[in-house]
Amino acid sequence: MPIRPDLPHPEFGEPVSAAQESEETLRLLARRRSTPVAVISEPGPARADLEAIIRLAARAPDHRKLGPWRFVVFEGGARQQLGHIFADARQAHEAHTEADLAEARALPLRSPAIVMVISAPVDDPKQTPVWEQELSAGAVCQNLLIAAAASGWAANWITEWPAFDPGVATRLGLSASERIAGFIYLGTAATEPVERQRPDLSERLLFWGD
Ligand SMILES: Cc1cc2nc3c(=O)[nH]c(=O)nc-3n(C[C@H](O)[C@H](O)[C@H](O)COP(=O)(O)O)c2cc1C
Repeated sequence: MPIRPDLPHPEFGEPVSAAQESEETLRLLARRRSTPVAVISEPGPARADLEAIIRLAARAPDHRKLGPWRFVVFEGGARQQLGHIFADARQAHEAHTEADLAEARALPLRSPAIVMVISAPVDDPKQTPVWEQELSAGAVCQNLLIAAAASGWAANWITEWPAFDPGVATRLGLSASERIAGFIYLGTAATEPVERQRPDLSERLLFWGD
């Protein structure tokens, strides 16, 4: 049963669109901004909303259809559990203070829901490079930001130290080849973000041959 029956859920082999003009999508992309996590507050998406957003995010390009990523959602009390995992991992570091542990515990409480995107490269006999598989996880994260924004939710893709901490990875059940691509914090913007500085495209765009 589709989670959002009003959205298309194409079956395998069903004709879909190569292109579909959408002024609204262009406008969303032109104005979408991450919301600083400090101002992401309640309410957060309901579970069905989250599932719909994740389903859309997972429609990311993925060489050889390996699906080299997975998701873990933390909402409600699970955020406290994640905070304890962060603090336990932080405690295992030689140098830590009580303040460090309290800060670690509080990290996941900053927004009502967090989607952890895990890059899970497959040991592909046909040799899809791990780099390509990791890029696909990044595409999933960006799709998630867009689907969240289009669903009316503020979002921010954050890594911070827990995404790189081996103790966090072990405690969250990641395998040796898996990595945390990001924690996508989701909720409602207490204040609207403002536009940030954007990289100067003129230094980054070349039309070959011009
Ligand atoms: C992979 C990745 C990791 C990030 N990790 C952090 C982080 O740990 N802390 C942080 O303040 N911002 C982090 N950011 C940046 C925020 O997501 C930032 O809000 C965003 O890049 C703003 O751009 P936007 O408004 O165009 O989305 C990260 C971004 C990416 C792509």
